[in-house]
Amino acid sequence: MSARGGTDPFYSDALLYDRLFPGGAEAVEFYRSRAGEQGGDVLELGCGTGQKLIPIAADGHRCTGLELSPAMLARARHKADERGVEVQWVEGDMRDFALGRRFDLVVIAANSLLHLHDAEDLVSCFRAVRSHLAPGGRLVFDVFNPDVRVLAHADGVRRRREALSYVDPDRGAIHVDVAETYDAVAQVTRGTWFFSTDSEADFVVVPLEMRSIFPQELPLLLELGGLRVVDRFGDWSRTPLTADASLQIYVCEAD
Ligand SMILES: C[S@@+](CC[C@H](N)C(=O)[O-])C[C@H]1O[C@@H](n2cnc3c(N)ncnc32)[C@H](O)[C@@H]1O
Repeated sequence: MSARGGTDPFYSDALLYDRLFPGGAEAVEFYRSRAGEQGGDVLELGCGTGQKLIPIAADGHRCTGLELSPAMLARARHKADERGVEVQWVEGDMRDFALGRRFDLVVIAANSLLHLHDAEDLVSCFRAVRSHLAPGGRLVFDVFNPDVRVLAHADGVRRRREALSYVDPDRGAIHVDVAETYDAVAQVTRGTWFFSTDSEADFVVVPLEMRSIFPQELPLLLELGGLRVVDRFGDWSRTPLTADASLQIYVCEAD
């Protein structure tokens, strides 16, 4: 496991995360239906505030959520308690964990995997997943499909992301600006995110780094972790992955 670690400052304000990314309904439905098809116990790695896991647990699955950020985990616990849903919440690192039991479905949703930058960390995570899969168990995850046109545009200039604007009940309309550069050797986009209102500029400024994992890389990394790809989709309606897909969704099983 690489030395890189610690909680990402981006995830220290869990309420801000939920307001910024309120959780795509299509993604939630996709993971709920996968859990229904698979049956049995579900583990989510990098579960955040439980946007996927709480609805899955509400469907009656025994669920465990593993998450590095104590702030995200605290909000997940609070949301589950409010909804009267039982989930086992575990503070831990998806690169190396031992829960002492196996699961029918392991989920890594909404680009959580892209927080692992080194190939050795990704392989170490896949190995840990494999050792937690019950017979016939599956790993299902989604990550961006890297677009070289977008990466080429990462020139360090601060730009407004209109599509990410949202309304905070206390502060009002929130504008989000992002300045990003792309490190083509590390395959990591290094960004700074600026949150402002009309009257308060940059009330939060946080770094965010995301790995790009290309479609030819992933099956090899999975194989090194003892997993093989069963299915690969490019959107939530399970269309096969094509060059113009913005998402990569993988279904894997033990090799
Ligand atoms: C983009 S959020 C996705 C959260 C959730 N899966 C969802 O669908 O909303 C990424 C999450 O991964 C967590 N994370 C990052 N690195 C991690 C690691 N090494 N182990 C466990 N969780 C990690 C972050 O703290 C954050 O909550």
